[in-house]
Amino acid sequence: MNQYFLTGLLLVLGVVLHIDWTTAKPPAKKADQLPSFLKVCHRNAPDLDTCVRESYEELRPRLMEGIPELYIPAMEPLVVPQVKMDQDSGAIYLHSVYRNVKVTGISKHTVNELRLEPSKLKFILSLTFPKLHMESDYSIKVSREGKIMMMPLLGDGHCKVDLVNITMRTELIGQEYKKNGANFLKINTVKVKYELSDVHIHLDNLFNGDKALGDRMNEFLNENWKALAEEVRPLMTKALVDILRASVDKLFASFSYDDLLPM
Ligand SMILES: *[C@@H]1O[C@H](CO)[C@@H](O)[C@H](O)[C@H]1NC(C)=O
Repeated sequence: MNQYFLTGLLLVLGVVLHIDWTTAKPPAKKADQLPSFLKVCHRNAPDLDTCVRESYEELRPRLMEGIPELYIPAMEPLVVPQVKMDQDSGAIYLHSVYRNVKVTGISKHTVNELRLEPSKLKFILSLTFPKLHMESDYSIKVSREGKIMMMPLLGDGHCKVDLVNITMRTELIGQEYKKNGANFLKINTVKVKYELSDVHIHLDNLFNGDKALGDRMNEFLNENWKALAEEVRPLMTKALVDILRASVDKLFASFSYDDLLPM
């Protein structure tokens, strides 16, 4: 398997992951007040971290069902009806559609770290997901100058991806500003880091159902998951940062800092 072949695959994979998450927008619904089930913590409380942790645990079952008032989509399962990706730049031609994308396993996470540092307007969250399972119907066509390793990458069917033991750490750093006399937060910095232990991929019906070629491709993907995962890391990290930023921006634009974390 040569370099171009790998590059083609990386593009496909990176793109799939990127779009699965970014299109998962929560329903736009404006709320004036924080939902009553949200346990609010006080900024200067000595037990702030304990309070925040308790608040999170209480919120957790609702988080998985989605909280439109807080711009949070349902997380278990996370469903995206359709994702499209087309690229036709330079040597790479890519056309792909993913339908009925479903991610399960998000609710089974453990919280490693959940910390607020109000003095620095810093928020830290680290979660571990034992396994995330993704399924979708897909259609992919990729070529590099018409060919990748003497053949186009072509497939149309069902795909499944398992990600094993993912630990994700997120750090948000904000800045205060005044709006209508109240203190609001604007997030300036979003940092995301993640590690994962294993990946299993299966693409059904590759190469018009040519089983030998399809099996070879799947084998290649699974054997090289580490290299593939490293290659898609920048794209994946950027996708996660963008999604997080979009969600928290909406939350922080809708509720003042004084409401979310009163003195
Ligand atoms: C899960 O990943 C972490 C690193 O992020 C590692 O320390 C731990 O040993 C892994 N656990 C398993 C069961 O693979």
